[in-house]
Amino acid sequence: MKLLVTGGAGFIGSNFIFYERKQHPEDRIICLDALTYAGNLETLAPVMGDPMFRFVKGDIADRAAVYALFEEEHPDYVVNFAAESHVDRSIETPELFLQTNVMGTQILLDACRKYGVKRYHQVSTDEVYGDLPLDRPDLFFTEETPIHTSSPYSASKAAADLLVLAYHRTFGLPVTLSRCSNNYGQYHFPEKLIPLMISRALADESLPVYGKGENVRDWLYVEDHCAAIDLILRNGTDGEVYNIGGHNERTNLAVVKTILHELGKPESLITYVKDRPGHDRRYAIDPTKIHRELGWEPTTGFDEGIKRTVAWYLNNRPWWEHILAGEYQDYYERMYAGR
Ligand code: NAD
Ligand code: TYD
Repeated sequence: MKLLVTGGAGFIGSNFIFYERKQHPEDRIICLDALTYAGNLETLAPVMGDPMFRFVKGDIADRAAVYALFEEEHPDYVVNFAAESHVDRSIETPELFLQTNVMGTQILLDACRKYGVKRYHQVSTDEVYGDLPLDRPDLFFTEETPIHTSSPYSASKAAADLLVLAYHRTFGLPVTLSRCSNNYGQYHFPEKLIPLMISRALADESLPVYGKGENVRDWLYVEDHCAAIDLILRNGTDGEVYNIGGHNERTNLAVVKTILHELGKPESLITYVKDRPGHDRRYAIDPTKIHRELGWEPTTGFDEGIKRTVAWYLNNRPWWEHILAGEYQDYYERMYAGR
Protein backbone atom coordinates (compact mmCIF):
# COMPACT_ATOMS: atom_id res chain seq x y z
CA MET A 1 0.00 0.00 0.00
CA LYS A 2 0.98 3.60 -0.55
CA LEU A 3 1.09 6.19 2.22
CA LEU A 4 1.26 9.94 1.74
CA VAL A 5 2.79 11.55 4.84
CA THR A 6 2.60 15.34 4.88
CA GLY A 7 4.93 17.31 7.16
CA GLY A 8 7.29 14.33 7.33
CA ALA A 9 10.41 16.50 7.56
CA GLY A 10 9.27 17.80 10.96
CA PHE A 11 9.48 16.29 14.43
CA ILE A 12 6.63 13.79 14.68
CA GLY A 13 6.22 13.18 10.94
CA SER A 14 9.85 12.09 10.55
CA ASN A 15 9.59 9.78 13.57
CA PHE A 16 6.42 8.33 12.02
CA ILE A 17 8.21 7.67 8.71
CA PHE A 18 11.00 5.83 10.54
CA TYR A 19 8.42 3.86 12.51
CA GLU A 20 6.50 2.85 9.37
CA ARG A 21 9.65 1.83 7.48
CA LYS A 22 10.53 -0.46 10.39
CA GLN A 23 7.06 -1.87 11.08
CA HIS A 24 5.74 -2.09 7.50
CA PRO A 25 8.71 -2.30 5.14
CA GLU A 26 6.37 -3.48 2.34
CA ASP A 27 4.59 -0.10 2.24
CA ARG A 28 5.74 2.74 0.01
CA ILE A 29 5.90 6.19 1.60
CA ILE A 30 5.71 9.56 -0.12
CA CYS A 31 6.54 12.56 2.03
CA LEU A 32 5.16 15.97 1.04
CA ASP A 33 6.73 18.81 2.99
CA ALA A 34 7.17 22.53 2.29
CA LEU A 35 10.44 22.61 4.28
CA THR A 36 9.48 25.63 6.37
CA TYR A 37 11.84 26.67 9.18
CA ALA A 38 10.64 23.54 11.04
CA GLY A 39 11.24 21.08 8.19
CA ASN A 40 14.71 19.60 7.89
CA LEU A 41 15.95 17.26 5.18
CA GLU A 42 18.93 16.30 7.34
CA THR A 43 16.40 14.50 9.54
CA LEU A 44 15.24 12.34 6.65
CA ALA A 45 18.79 11.44 5.54
CA PRO A 46 18.44 7.80 6.76
CA VAL A 47 15.57 7.14 4.29
CA MET A 48 16.49 9.41 1.39
CA GLY A 49 18.15 6.60 -0.62
CA ASP A 50 15.45 4.06 0.22
CA PRO A 51 13.61 2.87 -2.94
CA MET A 52 10.36 2.61 -0.92
CA PHE A 53 10.57 6.30 0.00
CA ARG A 54 10.08 9.46 -2.04
CA PHE A 55 10.44 13.05 -0.85
CA VAL A 56 8.48 15.82 -2.58
CA LYS A 57 8.93 19.48 -1.64
CA GLY A 58 5.56 21.21 -1.74
CA ASP A 59 2.93 23.16 0.17
CA ILE A 60 -0.28 21.41 1.27
CA ALA A 61 -2.08 24.72 0.65
CA ASP A 62 -1.01 24.72 -3.02
CA ARG A 63 -3.99 23.07 -4.70
CA ALA A 64 -2.35 22.54 -8.08
CA ALA A 65 0.75 20.93 -6.55
CA VAL A 66 -1.32 18.68 -4.26
CA TYR A 67 -3.61 17.54 -7.07
CA ALA A 68 -0.62 16.88 -9.35
CA LEU A 69 0.93 14.67 -6.67
CA PHE A 70 -2.31 12.72 -6.11
CA GLU A 71 -2.72 12.35 -9.89
CA GLU A 72 0.75 10.86 -10.11
CA GLU A 73 0.86 8.72 -6.96
CA HIS A 74 -2.76 7.88 -6.05
CA PRO A 75 -1.98 7.26 -2.34
CA ASP A 76 -4.14 4.74 -0.44
CA TYR A 77 -3.69 6.46 2.91
CA VAL A 78 -2.94 10.09 3.81
CA VAL A 79 -1.59 11.11 7.21
CA ASN A 80 -1.50 14.86 7.69
CA PHE A 81 1.20 16.09 10.07
CA ALA A 82 1.92 19.28 8.09
CA ALA A 83 1.19 22.29 10.25
CA GLU A 84 2.52 25.42 11.83
CA SER A 85 2.93 23.98 15.30
CA HIS A 86 4.36 26.53 17.74
CA VAL A 87 1.94 28.45 19.98
CA ASP A 88 4.33 31.40 20.48
CA ARG A 89 4.73 31.87 16.71
CA SER A 90 0.93 31.75 16.32
CA ILE A 91 0.71 34.76 18.64
CA GLU A 92 3.14 36.59 16.29
CA THR A 93 1.60 35.57 12.93
CA PRO A 94 -1.87 34.00 13.22
CA GLU A 95 -2.56 34.25 9.48
CA LEU A 96 0.13 31.75 8.52
CA PHE A 97 -1.50 29.26 10.89
CA LEU A 98 -4.87 29.63 9.21
CA GLN A 99 -3.29 29.30 5.77
CA THR A 100 -1.44 26.04 6.48
CA ASN A 101 -3.49 24.42 9.21
CA VAL A 102 -6.97 25.24 7.88
CA MET A 103 -6.67 25.91 4.15
CA GLY A 104 -3.97 23.27 3.72
CA THR A 105 -6.14 20.66 5.44
CA GLN A 106 -9.13 21.61 3.28
CA ILE A 107 -7.10 21.20 0.09
CA LEU A 108 -5.85 17.78 1.19
CA LEU A 109 -9.44 16.75 1.95
CA ASP A 110 -10.56 17.96 -1.49
CA ALA A 111 -7.76 15.96 -3.10
CA CYS A 112 -8.83 12.85 -1.16
CA ARG A 113 -12.40 13.30 -2.39
CA LYS A 114 -11.34 13.89 -5.98
CA TYR A 115 -8.90 11.00 -6.28
CA GLY A 116 -10.30 8.63 -3.63
CA VAL A 117 -8.43 7.21 -0.62
CA LYS A 118 -8.92 4.32 1.78
CA ARG A 119 -8.42 6.70 4.70
CA TYR A 120 -7.40 10.27 5.54
CA HIS A 121 -5.93 10.66 9.02
CA GLN A 122 -5.67 14.08 10.66
CA VAL A 123 -3.01 14.49 13.34
CA SER A 124 -4.43 16.92 15.88
CA THR A 125 -3.76 18.05 19.40
CA ASP A 126 -5.29 18.03 22.88
CA GLU A 127 -4.94 21.83 22.76
CA VAL A 128 -8.28 22.00 20.90
CA TYR A 129 -9.96 21.20 24.25
CA GLY A 130 -8.52 24.34 25.88
CA ASP A 131 -7.13 23.89 29.39
CA LEU A 132 -8.03 22.37 32.74
CA PRO A 133 -7.75 24.09 36.13
CA LEU A 134 -4.64 23.30 38.17
CA ASP A 135 -6.65 22.48 41.30
CA ARG A 136 -8.77 19.74 39.67
CA PRO A 137 -6.39 16.80 39.08
CA ASP A 138 -9.47 14.58 38.72
CA LEU A 139 -10.42 16.17 35.36
CA PHE A 140 -9.19 14.84 32.00
CA PHE A 141 -9.93 15.52 28.32
CA THR A 142 -12.14 12.87 26.75
CA GLU A 143 -13.25 12.77 23.11
CA GLU A 144 -16.53 14.35 24.29
CA THR A 145 -14.89 17.38 25.94
CA PRO A 146 -16.11 20.51 24.12
CA ILE A 147 -13.71 22.33 21.80
CA HIS A 148 -12.62 25.50 23.61
CA THR A 149 -9.42 26.95 22.19
CA SER A 150 -7.03 29.53 23.64
CA SER A 151 -4.36 30.37 21.02
CA PRO A 152 -4.42 31.05 17.28
CA TYR A 153 -2.57 27.72 16.95
CA SER A 154 -5.19 25.69 18.79
CA ALA A 155 -8.01 27.61 17.08
CA SER A 156 -6.57 26.74 13.67
CA LYS A 157 -6.17 23.07 14.63
CA ALA A 158 -9.76 22.98 15.92
CA ALA A 159 -11.04 24.53 12.68
CA ALA A 160 -9.20 21.84 10.72
CA ASP A 161 -10.64 19.09 12.97
CA LEU A 162 -14.17 20.32 12.32
CA LEU A 163 -13.55 20.38 8.57
CA VAL A 164 -12.25 16.82 8.65
CA LEU A 165 -15.36 15.61 10.49
CA ALA A 166 -17.60 17.66 8.18
CA TYR A 167 -16.04 16.01 5.11
CA HIS A 168 -16.87 12.65 6.66
CA ARG A 169 -20.47 13.51 7.43
CA THR A 170 -21.25 15.52 4.31
CA PHE A 171 -19.23 13.70 1.67
CA GLY A 172 -18.71 10.31 3.31
CA LEU A 173 -14.92 10.70 3.18
CA PRO A 174 -13.25 7.92 5.23
CA VAL A 175 -11.43 9.90 7.91
CA THR A 176 -9.97 9.38 11.37
CA LEU A 177 -8.69 12.00 13.75
CA SER A 178 -6.32 11.82 16.71
CA ARG A 179 -5.69 14.37 19.45
CA CYS A 180 -2.42 13.84 21.25
CA SER A 181 -0.78 15.45 24.24
CA ASN A 182 2.71 17.06 24.16
CA ASN A 183 5.33 14.90 22.48
CA TYR A 184 9.06 14.75 23.16
CA GLY A 185 11.97 12.74 21.80
CA GLN A 186 14.50 12.75 18.96
CA TYR A 187 14.38 15.44 16.22
CA HIS A 188 12.24 17.82 18.30
CA PHE A 189 12.82 21.38 17.04
CA PRO A 190 14.77 23.40 19.64
CA GLU A 191 12.15 26.16 19.99
CA LYS A 192 9.91 23.82 22.03
CA LEU A 193 10.31 23.50 25.81
CA ILE A 194 12.31 20.27 26.20
CA PRO A 195 14.88 20.63 23.37
CA LEU A 196 15.17 24.38 24.04
CA MET A 197 16.10 23.72 27.66
CA ILE A 198 18.53 20.92 26.76
CA SER A 199 20.37 22.96 24.14
CA ARG A 200 20.54 26.10 26.29
CA ALA A 201 21.60 24.23 29.43
CA LEU A 202 24.42 22.57 27.49
CA ALA A 203 25.66 26.06 26.55
CA ASP A 204 25.24 27.26 30.17
CA GLU A 205 22.65 29.79 28.99
CA SER A 206 19.65 31.00 31.01
CA LEU A 207 16.53 28.82 30.83
CA PRO A 208 13.42 30.98 30.22
CA VAL A 209 10.53 29.53 32.24
CA TYR A 210 7.23 31.30 31.54
CA GLY A 211 5.41 32.72 34.58
CA LYS A 212 6.04 30.58 37.66
CA GLY A 213 6.58 27.34 35.76
CA GLU A 214 3.42 25.87 37.31
CA ASN A 215 1.64 25.01 34.05
CA VAL A 216 1.19 21.30 33.51
CA ARG A 217 1.72 19.32 30.31
CA ASP A 218 1.01 15.60 29.72
CA TRP A 219 4.18 14.29 28.01
CA LEU A 220 4.22 11.39 25.55
CA TYR A 221 7.34 9.83 24.06
CA VAL A 222 7.10 10.39 20.30
CA GLU A 223 7.39 6.71 19.33
CA ASP A 224 4.29 5.92 21.40
CA HIS A 225 2.40 8.58 19.43
CA CYS A 226 3.61 7.04 16.14
CA ALA A 227 2.45 3.58 17.25
CA ALA A 228 -0.99 4.98 18.11
CA ILE A 229 -1.39 6.68 14.72
CA ASP A 230 -0.32 3.49 12.95
CA LEU A 231 -3.00 1.53 14.85
CA ILE A 232 -5.72 4.08 14.10
CA LEU A 233 -4.77 4.23 10.43
CA ARG A 234 -4.98 0.46 10.00
CA ASN A 235 -7.64 -0.55 12.56
CA GLY A 236 -9.56 2.60 13.50
CA THR A 237 -13.19 3.34 12.64
CA ASP A 238 -14.18 5.94 10.04
CA GLY A 239 -15.42 9.22 11.47
CA GLU A 240 -13.96 8.55 14.94
CA VAL A 241 -11.81 10.77 17.15
CA TYR A 242 -9.13 9.16 19.36
CA ASN A 243 -7.34 10.88 22.24
CA ILE A 244 -3.71 9.83 22.74
CA GLY A 245 -1.79 10.34 25.98
CA GLY A 246 -0.01 8.38 28.66
CA HIS A 247 -0.76 10.02 32.04
CA ASN A 248 2.68 11.61 32.35
CA GLU A 249 1.78 14.99 33.80
CA ARG A 250 4.56 17.31 34.93
CA THR A 251 4.80 21.01 35.74
CA ASN A 252 7.14 22.89 33.40
CA LEU A 253 9.43 23.61 36.33
CA ALA A 254 9.68 19.90 37.18
CA VAL A 255 10.57 19.12 33.54
CA VAL A 256 13.29 21.78 33.47
CA LYS A 257 14.73 20.58 36.79
CA THR A 258 14.80 16.99 35.55
CA ILE A 259 16.74 18.08 32.45
CA LEU A 260 19.22 20.03 34.57
CA HIS A 261 19.66 17.02 36.82
CA GLU A 262 20.28 14.71 33.82
CA LEU A 263 22.87 17.12 32.44
CA GLY A 264 24.53 17.84 35.80
CA LYS A 265 23.82 21.57 35.39
CA PRO A 266 22.82 23.98 38.22
CA GLU A 267 19.25 25.14 38.86
CA SER A 268 20.60 28.70 38.96
CA LEU A 269 20.30 28.67 35.13
CA ILE A 270 16.50 28.91 35.51
CA THR A 271 15.16 32.41 34.77
CA TYR A 272 11.49 33.27 35.21
CA VAL A 273 10.25 35.37 32.29
CA LYS A 274 6.98 37.10 31.38
CA ASP A 275 4.18 34.61 30.88
CA ARG A 276 2.82 33.60 27.48
CA PRO A 277 -0.43 35.50 26.73
CA GLY A 278 -3.45 33.20 27.15
CA HIS A 279 -1.17 30.46 28.56
CA ASP A 280 -3.09 27.18 28.97
CA ARG A 281 -2.80 25.93 32.55
CA ARG A 282 -3.06 22.15 32.32
CA TYR A 283 -3.51 19.52 29.63
CA ALA A 284 -4.37 15.94 30.60
CA ILE A 285 -5.64 13.20 28.30
CA ASP A 286 -7.98 10.35 29.13
CA PRO A 287 -6.78 7.63 26.70
CA THR A 288 -9.44 5.07 27.67
CA LYS A 289 -11.04 4.89 24.22
CA ILE A 290 -7.91 4.08 22.20
CA HIS A 291 -6.86 1.57 24.84
CA ARG A 292 -10.25 -0.14 24.89
CA GLU A 293 -10.93 -0.12 21.13
CA LEU A 294 -7.45 -0.56 19.66
CA GLY A 295 -5.41 -1.97 22.54
CA TRP A 296 -2.93 0.93 22.49
CA GLU A 297 -0.92 1.83 25.53
CA PRO A 298 2.31 3.77 25.91
CA THR A 299 5.51 1.81 26.42
CA THR A 300 7.88 4.58 27.55
CA GLY A 301 7.32 6.46 30.81
CA PHE A 302 8.61 10.00 31.31
CA ASP A 303 11.62 9.11 33.46
CA GLU A 304 12.94 6.68 30.85
CA GLY A 305 11.92 8.83 27.86
CA ILE A 306 13.59 11.99 29.11
CA LYS A 307 16.85 10.09 29.75
CA ARG A 308 16.78 8.77 26.16
CA THR A 309 15.94 12.21 24.81
CA VAL A 310 18.75 13.95 26.68
CA ALA A 311 21.15 11.23 25.49
CA TRP A 312 19.97 11.73 21.89
CA TYR A 313 20.64 15.49 22.01
CA LEU A 314 24.08 14.83 23.51
CA ASN A 315 24.91 12.32 20.76
CA ASN A 316 23.44 14.31 17.87
CA ARG A 317 24.82 17.78 18.40
CA PRO A 318 25.34 18.59 14.67
CA TRP A 319 21.59 18.14 14.03
CA TRP A 320 20.49 20.87 16.44
CA GLU A 321 23.63 23.00 16.19
CA HIS A 322 22.93 23.48 12.46
CA ILE A 323 19.45 24.71 13.36
CA LEU A 324 20.68 27.06 16.10
CA ALA A 325 23.25 28.54 13.71
CA GLY A 326 20.59 29.53 11.14
CA GLU A 327 17.66 31.99 11.19
CA TYR A 328 16.73 30.54 14.59
CA GLN A 329 19.08 33.09 16.21
CA ASP A 330 16.85 35.99 15.08
CA TYR A 331 13.80 34.11 16.33
CA TYR A 332 15.22 33.74 19.84
CA GLU A 333 16.16 37.43 19.99
CA ARG A 334 12.71 38.48 18.76
CA MET A 335 10.71 36.14 20.98
CA TYR A 336 12.56 36.49 24.26
CA ALA A 337 13.99 40.07 24.19
CA GLY A 338 12.67 42.17 27.07
CA ARG A 339 10.62 39.35 28.61
P1 NAD B 1 6.87 20.50 13.36
O1 NAD B 1 6.68 21.98 13.40
O2 NAD B 1 8.10 19.89 13.94
O3 NAD B 1 6.79 20.00 11.84
C1 NAD B 1 5.86 20.49 10.93
C2 NAD B 1 6.28 20.04 9.53
O4 NAD B 1 5.27 20.49 8.61
C3 NAD B 1 7.61 20.65 9.07
O5 NAD B 1 8.39 19.66 8.43
C4 NAD B 1 7.19 21.73 8.08
O6 NAD B 1 8.15 21.97 7.06
C5 NAD B 1 5.91 21.12 7.51
N1 NAD B 1 5.00 22.14 6.97
C6 NAD B 1 4.61 23.30 7.57
N2 NAD B 1 3.77 23.98 6.76
C7 NAD B 1 3.62 23.21 5.65
C8 NAD B 1 2.86 23.36 4.45
N3 NAD B 1 2.11 24.46 4.25
N4 NAD B 1 2.92 22.39 3.52
C9 NAD B 1 3.69 21.28 3.71
N5 NAD B 1 4.44 21.10 4.81
C10 NAD B 1 4.40 22.05 5.77
O7 NAD B 1 5.55 19.90 14.02
P2 NAD B 1 5.37 18.58 14.89
O8 NAD B 1 5.64 18.89 16.31
O9 NAD B 1 6.06 17.45 14.23
O10 NAD B 1 3.79 18.38 14.76
C11 NAD B 1 3.23 17.61 13.70
C12 NAD B 1 1.73 17.60 13.84
O11 NAD B 1 1.37 17.06 15.10
C13 NAD B 1 1.09 18.99 13.79
O12 NAD B 1 -0.10 18.90 13.05
C14 NAD B 1 0.80 19.32 15.24
O13 NAD B 1 -0.32 20.15 15.34
C15 NAD B 1 0.50 17.93 15.79
N6 NAD B 1 0.79 17.74 17.22
C16 NAD B 1 2.01 18.06 17.74
C17 NAD B 1 2.27 17.82 19.09
C18 NAD B 1 3.64 18.13 19.69
O14 NAD B 1 3.81 17.99 20.90
N7 NAD B 1 4.63 18.51 18.92
C19 NAD B 1 1.29 17.25 19.90
C20 NAD B 1 0.05 16.93 19.35
C21 NAD B 1 -0.19 17.16 18.00
P1 TYD C 1 5.75 24.22 24.17
O1 TYD C 1 6.88 23.26 24.03
O2 TYD C 1 5.79 25.49 23.37
O3 TYD C 1 4.41 23.40 23.90
P2 TYD C 1 2.86 23.83 24.13
O4 TYD C 1 2.77 25.28 24.39
O5 TYD C 1 2.25 23.48 22.81
O6 TYD C 1 2.38 23.00 25.26
O7 TYD C 1 5.64 24.64 25.70
C1 TYD C 1 5.43 23.67 26.70
C2 TYD C 1 5.23 24.41 28.01
O8 TYD C 1 6.45 25.07 28.36
C3 TYD C 1 4.17 25.53 27.92
O9 TYD C 1 3.46 25.57 29.15
C4 TYD C 1 4.98 26.79 27.76
C5 TYD C 1 6.28 26.49 28.51
N1 TYD C 1 7.49 27.14 27.96
C6 TYD C 1 8.34 27.86 28.82
O10 TYD C 1 8.09 27.97 30.03
N2 TYD C 1 9.46 28.44 28.29
C7 TYD C 1 9.78 28.36 26.96
O11 TYD C 1 10.79 28.96 26.53
C8 TYD C 1 8.90 27.61 26.09
C9 TYD C 1 9.21 27.47 24.63
C10 TYD C 1 7.78 27.01 26.65
